Amino acid sequence: MKLISGNPYLKKKDDEVLIDSVSINEIAEEFKTPLLIFLENRIRDNINTFTRVFSSEFKNSEYFYSFKANFLPDICRIIKSEGIGAEIIGLLELKLALKLGFPSDKIIIGGPYLPEELIDLSIKNGIKEIVVYNINDLKTINFYAQKYNCIQDVCIRINSQKYRTRLGINLEKTKLIQLANLKKSLSNIKICSILSHYSTQMNNIELFIKNLNSVIENIKILLRHGIKIDNINLGGGFPEATVMSQNQLKKIARKIREILDTVSINYKNIYFEPGRYFVGDAGLFITKIVKITDDKWAFLNIGNHICPKFARCSLRFYNASRINEPHKYKTSFAGIMPSDQDVLAKNYFFTKNIKEEDLVIVTNTGAYCLTFSNRFPYSLPNILLVKDNTYKRIFNPISDKDISINSIV
Ligand SMILES: Cc1ncc(COP(=O)(O)O)c(C=O)c1O
Repeated sequence: MKLISGNPYLKKKDDEVLIDSVSINEIAEEFKTPLLIFLENRIRDNINTFTRVFSSEFKNSEYFYSFKANFLPDICRIIKSEGIGAEIIGLLELKLALKLGFPSDKIIIGGPYLPEELIDLSIKNGIKEIVVYNINDLKTINFYAQKYNCIQDVCIRINSQKYRTRLGINLEKTKLIQLANLKKSLSNIKICSILSHYSTQMNNIELFIKNLNSVIENIKILLRHGIKIDNINLGGGFPEATVMSQNQLKKIARKIREILDTVSINYKNIYFEPGRYFVGDAGLFITKIVKITDDKWAFLNIGNHICPKFARCSLRFYNASRINEPHKYKTSFAGIMPSDQDVLAKNYFFTKNIKEEDLVIVTNTGAYCLTFSNRFPYSLPNILLVKDNTYKRIFNPISDKDISINSIV
């Protein structure tokens, strides 16, 4: 059986598409399009690949799933059951992680905006680390750590020096003096980790090296100012697992380990926070063509409101109604928002024959599509979770109403 989109859980069998072991026809008979499908086995495989590769280089590696990639409870539950921790940016995500039973010593909180309520709840629950993007947050953390009579571990998010990034702390002289003074005066915090998340969809090993070098440089600077870092957090940024080969992942893991071996830094643990790698290629849309123009633009019944450019997914398009026909004729795909800007792809290789009502599979939509989706006034899709030869609906727009995190917690 031939794989579709390089995904072992999407196969072509004769003239039929199998989603894991379920026929697409069976699903299409029961549910109207558009439909968003998640592949449980793929999520588990991606986690196992990632942790196997990095754990074989680092005995002391820990993994935290970036909830913002996809915070659907059923998805997070699968990830938790694989023993992965949570990387959280806000109060609602924290409430969700706690509700799902993520152990607090496997939760890292951090972001450009840490409201007091978030800091309070984090410390009250004994979460592992709080990542600060703003030095002033240290005082608030110290205040709540004092309130709960504990010492809170803190991570400094440094500015990765990536061209024009505004995220994180730039450790220039005044900031370092401020930090060293705060370290002395704030006795309920312990600055013990450093984080640098460089970018998204990093297929080039050089980007990982740049990120690591920036971390190493900053660890040395901090040490010179009396701050000893124990844990290195390299964030996420890995592409979908079908886009980044295991070999490339191994090369990245090895290179990171080799560089760390050659510099004289004593660190205890290394953390990774993948989002897209775990769930990106575990999501796919089943959609249909609703209109075709003479110059080969196919309009699908999804658009940027639910499959947004912002999500930076590696979108791939397959004509499920003509899966055996060669996909080598340039076709452009537009969405259904009444705007010429609603373009999903231009000049993508697709089947020569296309008809309205053809079913189209859009792959690699598991990460960030829902997070960046907007409130454009179309109905949300049904969402299914497929595993082996079974499937269940995990979101029904009629009864569940909304996928937003506000409606979950
Ligand atoms: C600090 C941090 N960690 C992890 C991630 C997850 O990134 P990705 O989904 O690209 O792996 C992000 C994404 O923005 C991030 O900012």
